[in-house]
Amino acid sequence: MKLWQGRFAEPTAADADAFNESLSFDKKLYKADITASLAHAEMLGRCGILSEADAAAIKGGLEAILSDIEGGRLEISGQEDIHSFVENELVSRIGDAGKRLHTARSRNDQVATDFRLYVRSSAEEVVGLLKKLVSTLVSLSEKYAENIMPGYTHLRKAQPINCAQYFNAYSEMFLRDADRFCLVRRRADVMPLGSGALAGTSYPIDREITRELLGFSEISQNSLDGVSDRDFAAEYLFAASLAMAHLSRLCEDAILYTSTEFGFWEMPDAYSTGSSIMPQKKNPDICELVRGKTGRVYGDLVALLTAIKGIPLAYNKDLQEDKEGLFDAEKTLKDCLAIFAEMMGQIGLNTERMEEAAAEDFTCATDVADYLAKKGVPFRTAHGIVGGIVRECLERGRTLSDMTLAEYKAHSPVFEEDITEIVKAKNSANSRSSVGGSSVSAARAGIDSIRRRLALLPY
Ligand code: ARG
Repeated sequence: MKLWQGRFAEPTAADADAFNESLSFDKKLYKADITASLAHAEMLGRCGILSEADAAAIKGGLEAILSDIEGGRLEISGQEDIHSFVENELVSRIGDAGKRLHTARSRNDQVATDFRLYVRSSAEEVVGLLKKLVSTLVSLSEKYAENIMPGYTHLRKAQPINCAQYFNAYSEMFLRDADRFCLVRRRADVMPLGSGALAGTSYPIDREITRELLGFSEISQNSLDGVSDRDFAAEYLFAASLAMAHLSRLCEDAILYTSTEFGFWEMPDAYSTGSSIMPQKKNPDICELVRGKTGRVYGDLVALLTAIKGIPLAYNKDLQEDKEGLFDAEKTLKDCLAIFAEMMGQIGLNTERMEEAAAEDFTCATDVADYLAKKGVPFRTAHGIVGGIVRECLERGRTLSDMTLAEYKAHSPVFEEDITEIVKAKNSANSRSSVGGSSVSAARAGIDSIRRRLALLPY
């Protein structure tokens, strides 16, 4: 039965029912809906709006419904939405007392409350998954803290870097994501229940009781805004989008680094796929899929931002469009984070190849310029001198490390024997000991700092 049937002489058309319904997706909110209804009924009882007997009957009925759903004994179907489903089920079980549950409440404040409860716990779960991924990256950092690799800008070799510093960079991104999801949780942690349809209620409710029972930190301060605010959902989707952006960057690195052209990482067989025609292929499908799914989460964000744009106060049915995209982004992000934590835990690093590559293509040229500058040559002049050395090397098929001192001196008398140490990739990486830099000590300090912040994250 529809909760609003009374006013209508004719039934709604079947296609209108199908178009209007949200049960097919908002059934995910069953637990949040029952939890919020339990708190509402308890409050109505304590405030004397419902008799104690009715409040107790409602409580027993709702608890039985929850346990039947969770035990697989009650299928959620046949109603317009989850709120109608639970209420109708309650009425069918306990009669008139069930019909009193909706006193001093509207589906508008109900759905906003349910959705906030859902988003709040989902944000906690995402923080947990991000923590797991960062832990995996920290293990990689620890394992490879003494190793170097080429660092890139413009996807051209730039300077040698430390492998731990590399993994730490992604830990930093995912720590920011975790922080953002903590903020999203806080945004969701405001209770709109008690806002009624839009204007509040004339019943002597006590919103503090429901707030406390549902564990919300705050109560919404304006009923019009309370029923129509979906900022928390948009923020969830933005946080999810950015986390996906970070994952997609790691995907791109992984796809490149596991190629034979780079040969830096070995993807585990367990997370690779083959080709139906080319027997030799080992493809990074997982990474490509995560990269591809990033667009879908961005789409969910843009869809919600567009849906809430220009909505007149207060509740409008457009807001029903808030759920599917968020559920989709939630599943996508959680799946991607979980599989990435597993996969990254199993990658192998070809440290020799990385060290070799770190030394190729004049990656120590900046060190040579810095060497001259530290001996008093103005940096811009030093840059020009080293540019000339690189040009000569390219013309003569030489490298910075096989140039003789005499050859260096021909470019500048400032060069001395110690230049041979300067152009070693490992020394180059190790010389950058500024905070966050590529030296072993800086990378290890980075690991410590990440560990500290990881330990401070809740959930
Ligand atoms: N399914 C609806 C939604 O998700 C529930 C609220 C319905 N309220 C209404 N006034 N029709 O927004």
